[in-house]
Amino acid sequence: MFQLSKDGLAFVKNELTRYETKRSAVLPALFKAQEENGGWVSPEVVVHLSQVMDIPMSQINEVLTFYTMYNKKPVGKHHIQVCCNISCAMAGAHEMADYLCDKLGVHDGEMTKDGRFTISRAECLGSCDTAPVMQINMDEYIENLTYPKLDQMIKELK
Ligand code: FES
Repeated sequence: MFQLSKDGLAFVKNELTRYETKRSAVLPALFKAQEENGGWVSPEVVVHLSQVMDIPMSQINEVLTFYTMYNKKPVGKHHIQVCCNISCAMAGAHEMADYLCDKLGVHDGEMTKDGRFTISRAECLGSCDTAPVMQINMDEYIENLTYPKLDQMIKELK
């Protein structure tokens, strides 16, 4: 059964004091819980947050299912999200996502057998002028993607 760490709990409690409504704290609470749950939000996480925040699970699920930055199933150590919105798509992002999937032997959204990679397609990552763009986990952006850059990235992360 999932439980936030002591620090995670303190973080969520503090977020609850920062907003007028408890619902406003759901976004940061989900981020923290996702981080502490190995990169995804399981149903147990939702139950726990509902208890800790004293709000209905439905209000957490509304946020969870709306935003693509929350993972609803386990992801690899390196979750690679290829932006496939209009600017990136026009610059070949779909083909690049297919290339990565073929190279790693997975389908879109699937985790490699060794648990190292998940490739998925994302909505606009907010860097359209440097399309095509991808994000690795929550912190790293790679812009102006090319096939040699993809090869290099996989080599470095393996
Ligand atoms: S369309 Fe890809 S970053 Fe905006």
